[in-house]
Amino acid sequence: MILVKTRSALSEQLQLTGNEVEVGFVPTMGALHRGHLTLVARAVAENPVVVVSIFVNPNQFNDPDDLKRYPRNLEADLKLLEGTGCHMVFAPEAEEIYPGPDNRKFNFGKLETVMEGKHRPGHFNGVAQVVSKLFDIVQPRRAYFGLKDFQQLAIINAMVKQLSLPVEIVACDIVREESGLAMSSRNELLSPEDRKEAALINQTLNRAAELAGEKTVKEIENWVTETINNSPALTVEYFEVVDNESLQRIGNWSEEGEKTGCIAVYCGKIRLIDNVRF
Ligand code: PAJ
Repeated sequence: MILVKTRSALSEQLQLTGNEVEVGFVPTMGALHRGHLTLVARAVAENPVVVVSIFVNPNQFNDPDDLKRYPRNLEADLKLLEGTGCHMVFAPEAEEIYPGPDNRKFNFGKLETVMEGKHRPGHFNGVAQVVSKLFDIVQPRRAYFGLKDFQQLAIINAMVKQLSLPVEIVACDIVREESGLAMSSRNELLSPEDRKEAALINQTLNRAAELAGEKTVKEIENWVTETINNSPALTVEYFEVVDNESLQRIGNWSEEGEKTGCIAVYCGKIRLIDNVRF
């Protein structure tokens, strides 16, 4: 496994493997856990060459404190990646990705005006900026994203279409801790008590999926919000049942199309997201 920190070093390494070789790519912000490693394992299984990027992208943080406290540990990340069969790790400094300001404004229409897009202004523009740049550098044939960030996947798919990029986006299932809590780099920032309490998020979503036959959409939305807010440690920012394609809120269960319930919850200062299929 090779660690490279510059675009030119990465291009050089990729050229050594041959231009026609298909590259699988897993973009991350590091503080790797089993969720990330599952994406890497899938990429390794499906591509002869795999690149993992580790870059805490400042442009996608709307909250400066969140950026400051975001966990960083390159040494530990490299150790975790050692055994995966990943070939190259691209871990650039911010100047390497943004030698000057990135003034590009993407327009994802209604996909970005709801949920994460609504509560984290500018977040998805920053995600699109960095992922488009990383795609440009890595030139992947396939790129792997987790369904934990459900809306991010929709945004990436929209971006690939808008820019006509020759990359296949592969969606990977959510990996969970034993308690059911969706794995996240931010979980590291939770106290042991809060981490236990945060398991209520997934438990409640699972129960909601079971109750969907008996309650209206509105009732489910209220029930989930109230159940989680009942824990003194947790505060729901939003919970919405949306159409998988449009990401717009549905009115009732009989509407056509697949549906997902998406949630954001504050556990103290730490913001967690999760979702469940209905
Ligand atoms: P990060 O949060 O590090 O996540 C990197 C990838 O791992 C994303 O595709 C995310 O959905 C996936 N992932 C995280 N936790 C997961 C879990 N529990 N199960 C399955 N997949 C999981 O998402 C980002 O970084 C950034 O926005 C990025 C795309 C790298 C752009 O900066």
